[in-house]
Amino acid sequence: MKKSIIILAIIALLPLRVLVAGEGMWIPLLLSFNELEMRQMGMRITADDIYSINHSSLKDAIVKFGNGCTGEIVSENGLLLTNHHCGYSWIQYHSSVEHDYLTDGFWAMNAGEELPCPGLTVTIMRRMENVTDLILDGVGAMMSEKERSDMVKRNSDELKRVLEAESGYTVSIESFYLGNEYYAIYNEIFRDVRFVGAPNSNIGKFGGDTDNWMWPRHTGDFSVFRVYADNEGKPAEYSKENKPYHPDYHLTISLKGVDEGDFSFVFGYPARTSEYLSSYAVNQEANLLNPIRIDLRTRILDVYNKYQEQDPAVRIQYASKHAGVANGWKKWIGATEGINNFKGIEKKQEFEKAFTAWAADKPQYRNILTEFEDNYNKLEKYYTAYTYMDEAGFSIEVIDFASQFGKLVNAASSEQIEKAVASLKTKSAAFFKDYYQPIDEEVATAMLTAYRAAQPAGFRPEILNTIDKKYKGNVEKYVAQLFGKTMFASQDRVSELLDNYDAKKARLIEKDPAYQAYLSLVSFNEENVYPELLRIMADNNALLRTYMRAQMEMQPERNFYPDANFTLRVTYGKIGGFEPKDAMVYKHYTTLDGIMQKENPNIYDYVVEPKLKELYQAQDYGRYADKDGSMHVAFCASNHTTGGNSGSPILNADGHLIGLNFDRCWEGTMSDMMYDPDICRNISVDIRYVLFIIDKYAGASHLIDEMTIEQ
Ligand code: ARG
Ligand code: GLU
Repeated sequence: MKKSIIILAIIALLPLRVLVAGEGMWIPLLLSFNELEMRQMGMRITADDIYSINHSSLKDAIVKFGNGCTGEIVSENGLLLTNHHCGYSWIQYHSSVEHDYLTDGFWAMNAGEELPCPGLTVTIMRRMENVTDLILDGVGAMMSEKERSDMVKRNSDELKRVLEAESGYTVSIESFYLGNEYYAIYNEIFRDVRFVGAPNSNIGKFGGDTDNWMWPRHTGDFSVFRVYADNEGKPAEYSKENKPYHPDYHLTISLKGVDEGDFSFVFGYPARTSEYLSSYAVNQEANLLNPIRIDLRTRILDVYNKYQEQDPAVRIQYASKHAGVANGWKKWIGATEGINNFKGIEKKQEFEKAFTAWAADKPQYRNILTEFEDNYNKLEKYYTAYTYMDEAGFSIEVIDFASQFGKLVNAASSEQIEKAVASLKTKSAAFFKDYYQPIDEEVATAMLTAYRAAQPAGFRPEILNTIDKKYKGNVEKYVAQLFGKTMFASQDRVSELLDNYDAKKARLIEKDPAYQAYLSLVSFNEENVYPELLRIMADNNALLRTYMRAQMEMQPERNFYPDANFTLRVTYGKIGGFEPKDAMVYKHYTTLDGIMQKENPNIYDYVVEPKLKELYQAQDYGRYADKDGSMHVAFCASNHTTGGNSGSPILNADGHLIGLNFDRCWEGTMSDMMYDPDICRNISVDIRYVLFIIDKYAGASHLIDEMTIEQ
C-alpha cells in the first residue's frame, strides 16, 4: 500500500468530527442516547423526565405556537409564554388607535379580559414513533425517484389515516435524516388561544433591528397567552363556555439565575437546518446566493431607511416590512462571514477527502461527491436566476400585489369570483394601509437596475428586454410609466375594480403593466428556469439522502442528529460568553444597567419607559434580582438553535425554566449549516426579567400567583 492511502485509511477510521457538546438537535424519543453526556455536563434529571409516554413529562408543557414559534405552559391553567416577536401579529391584531397595545402594552387583569385570537393554534405533541419500515414498505433500490416518492406518499397517507382513527389524535408523518427515516407524530391542536399580556414594544422589542442578531442584548422579548379547551379538556373551536386548559405538566420556574458553565437545554421546534451538505452546496449558499440576496436587500433597506427617517408615519408603515427584510439580510451576512472566518468550506473539503477514500470501494457511494460537484455547477445559473426573480422581482410591492389578482383572472365560476373578490378586498385593505408609493418606485428602480445588470442573455425575462429595447435601457423611465399606468398602486382604482367586478373585467387586470410584469417574471421562469432547477434539486435531494446514509455508515460511532424539520427537539449546552473577534471577550449576561446605557430618547429602538427607569433608580427588583443585586436581562449559551426555536424554554439542570430563547449571536448564525462550539450562541431573555416586568412593572401579579416558582 502506498503511504498516502494508509494515511487516508487511518483518517477514515477516526471519528472525524467528534461531536462537540452544544451541537445537535435531538429527537426527544431517543434522548436516552444523550443522557450520559447530559448528566456529565451537569443535568440532574433523566431523559425520561423530559420525554415519556408512560407518565407526564416536560414535553407535555412544550407547544408549537402558531406556525413558526415555540411556547411553553407555565401554570395548571394553561398560561403560556412565548416571545414578543412571536405574539407580535396578535398584539397588532388587537390594537387600534384607541388601544395601541404595541406601544402601551396590554394586560388582561382577569379571565374576562383575555382576548380571543381567531386562527391561532397551539400544538402539543403527545407521542412519536419510528414508522420507517411501514413508510418504506415496497420501496425498492431500483425505483426511480418519482416511483419512490409516490410510494412514500401513498404509504404515509394510508398510515396517517389508520393512526388517526386508532388514536383520535392528529397525526403527521415526518421525514428525518433527509428521507432515511420516518416518524409518526401524534398531536393535539388547540384552537381557542387567548392573548393575556405583553409589555410595551419599548421593552418587548428594545434594541429593535439595530440589536437584532447581536450580543450584548437587552430585549424583553416575551408575551403571554392562555390555552382554552372544552369541558373534557379537549381542543375545541373558540367558545365562551371553554375553560382554561389543564395541561398534564407545566414548567416550574427557577429564580436562581445562571452561572457561566451551567448546564442548560432548549426544548422546542427548530424549523430548518442543513448540516450534512457537501462543500459545493455550502459554498454556493455562502458565496454565491447569500451575496446576491444581501446586495439586493441592502439596496432595499437603503430606500426604506431614507424615507423612514424623513417621515414618522412612513416609519410606522414600513416597520414590519423593514424588520422582515432586515432579519434575513443580517442573518445571511453573519452566516457567510462565519462560514468564511471559520474555514467552513475547507473543513467540509477535508471531510470529503476522507469520505472519498472510504467510499472508493463502495460503488453505491463512490460517485456522490463528483455528482454533487457537477450538479451544483449546473445549478448555479438557474438558482441565480430564481433568486433574482424572487428577491428582486417580488420585492417590488406593486408587482407582488398584482400577482395576487391572478386568482380573479382565473376564477371560473361566479362563486369563485365572489370568493376571490372577498379575499382580495381584505388583502387590499392591508396592502394600502402600509403602502407608500415613492418607496416602491425607488425600490423598483433599484431592483430592476441590479437584475438587469446581473442576468446574462438567456436569463432575462421579457420585462428586462422591454427596458432595453423600448426604454433604451432607462430603468427610471420604465418604472415611471409602470407606476403611471398601473391601477395596483391606487387604492381607489383597486376598490373600484373589486366593488364592481365581473368576468369581463379580467381584461383590465391582464392589461395592467404591473400584472404583465408579474406574468413576464413567472412565465419566463416557468419556461426557462424551473424545469432544470427542480430537476437538479430533486436529483440533489436523492443524492443527499444517500450521502446522509453513507456518512452514518462511515462513522458508526457517532450519534447523528437529523436536520431540523419543525418537529420537537432537545438541544443542550452550557451557559457561557464567547470571544467573537480578536481581543474581544463577551460576558454571558446583560443587566438593566445596559438598558440605561443604551437609552436614547431620540432613537426609536432605544427609548426607555419612565416606569422602568423609576424601578431602576429605586433598584426595586424584589425577589427577581440576581444574587449580585442587579437585574439580569438576557444571557447566552451554547445551545444549537434555529428559527422556530423562538419562544422555546431554556431550562436548567433540574428542568426548571430559566429563560425564553429568542435569537442567536451574529458571529454564529452559520450554525444552520455548520455548528462551532466556540462561536455559536443562542440568546435568551432571563425569566427573572420576564417576571419582574409582569409583576413589578405591569402589576399583573395575579399571573405570577398562578405560576410554580422555585426561589
Ligand atoms: N432574529 C430573531 C429571529 O430570527 C428575531 C427577529 C425579530 N426581531 C427583529 N428585530 N426583527 O427571528
Ligand atoms: N428569532 C428566531 C425565531 O424567530 C430565533 C433565532 C434563530 O434563528 O435562532 O425563531
